[in-house]
Amino acid sequence: MKGIILAGGSATRLYPLSKAISKQIMPVYDKPMIYYPLSALMLAGIREVLVISTPRDLPMFEELLGDGSRIGMKLSYKVQLVPNGLAQAFVLGREFLNGEPGCLILGDNMFYGQHFGHMLKEAVESAEQGGACIFGYEVADPRAYGVVEFDAEGKVLSLEEKPAEPKSNYAVPGLYFYDKTVCEKAAGLQPSARGEYEITDLNKLYLQEGTLKVKLFSRGFAWLDTGNCDSLLDAGNFIATIQNRQGFYVSCIEEIAWRNGWISTDQLVALGKEMKTAYGRYLERIAAKGN
Ligand code: DAU
Repeated sequence: MKGIILAGGSATRLYPLSKAISKQIMPVYDKPMIYYPLSALMLAGIREVLVISTPRDLPMFEELLGDGSRIGMKLSYKVQLVPNGLAQAFVLGREFLNGEPGCLILGDNMFYGQHFGHMLKEAVESAEQGGACIFGYEVADPRAYGVVEFDAEGKVLSLEEKPAEPKSNYAVPGLYFYDKTVCEKAAGLQPSARGEYEITDLNKLYLQEGTLKVKLFSRGFAWLDTGNCDSLLDAGNFIATIQNRQGFYVSCIEEIAWRNGWISTDQLVALGKEMKTAYGRYLERIAAKGN
């Protein structure tokens, strides 16, 4: 399975913060936001990733992450000229996926919790066998999200994008796993009333086909929002709290690459030495610890 990170858009809700710089490159405590979705893909075992962003911002992501070889990955980049919908990731990413199944993660979505890696690997397996696998997460107010409704047996009844009157409290996070028919399905979509190629419409095609799976994140799991200044600050504080308490970093891409066996301990130490910061020293420390 290959991965796509959608990191474009204009993030007007963060103005003036995001006026001259991409939201997905902004700091969430000690690392750029895109590290968090990238590490989710890495935890899923996905090594080949396409980053999609605006013509203005794409070069910055290239400068930050390069070709990915330093963390044992293969990264490539594609411009989205107009932010006309999440499902466009599979129109722009068609050549990259080249008929393979694909996972899409939004560049501003952050996840943290136990068994996340395990859930991701299950989702990869499920979509590789066919169909789509998405997630549900209970929130107090789901009106800003895609919303999934279940019957008493847990069967999916409906999917709606930003409903004024949600049929459930289960929001759909920006993390989607699809089989190899995804590009064909995305190519046939029509823009919604608000003029966007909606990811929810793509998911509905799988629902109609009877091949949509929805897995639920439990209440102890964190799916963090970064949509406005308060939620961005909250996300940073959350990461700082966890990291400082446990001493383990959250979404440290070099560490995940090393634990995945994609880079050696020597490579990890070398990456650590390049950064004269707590982050760099952390890489050296875990390398010395050996596990
Ligand atoms: O965060 C989860 C939600 O993401 C889902 O529950 C919704 O179903 C889904 O539509 C999406 O809703 P948002 O309102 O958060 O989407 P937004 O337009 O804000 O885009 C999400 C991110 O993707 C944002 O960082 C900008 C980027 N983006 C967006 C669009 C429309 C792009 O890179 N290109 C685009 O064309």
